[in-house]
Amino acid sequence: MKLLFELNGVPQYLDVEPGERLLRLLRRLGMKSVKEGCGTGDCGACTVLVDGRAVRSCLMVAPQVQGRRVLTLEGLGSVDDPHPLQQAFLDAGAVQCGFCTPGMILVAYELLQGNDDPSPEDVRKAIAGNLCRCTGYVKIADAVLLAARWKQEGKWR
Ligand code: FES
Ligand code: FES
Repeated sequence: MKLLFELNGVPQYLDVEPGERLLRLLRRLGMKSVKEGCGTGDCGACTVLVDGRAVRSCLMVAPQVQGRRVLTLEGLGSVDDPHPLQQAFLDAGAVQCGFCTPGMILVAYELLQGNDDPSPEDVRKAIAGNLCRCTGYVKIADAVLLAARWKQEGKWR
């Protein structure tokens, strides 16, 4: 079937198998930030935003994004031009192996889109469904709170 959707602001029109998972499609399109951890909806490593809401791309089939907007980490910023939220993860030392990082950043982005001044509890709740084997979560929460402060200070784009 033909699928039309927007990926990181760029229209995509391509053939997909009806049962192709969104995770596989995104990686086929070069979105290497989208990681497959568990493949069963439990770890959050495959998180992307669809119409601004965090979803687990391992649990969606590609046709579910027909006509919708998908954002992956590649659409937020790059190594040369990181989004302030990505920079906050670096500055707070919240990245170790990095496998969980794209999903963590995207759930944090969703949170901060709707809440400029989250409490530590808000942050803990937002990231609760995303597993990290390395950091113990403290630095990740610090990074999100740092990014929130920068957002309040008008340092987001
Ligand atoms: S790979 Fe999708 S939730 Fe783990
Ligand atoms: S930084 Fe390694 S899993 Fe989170």
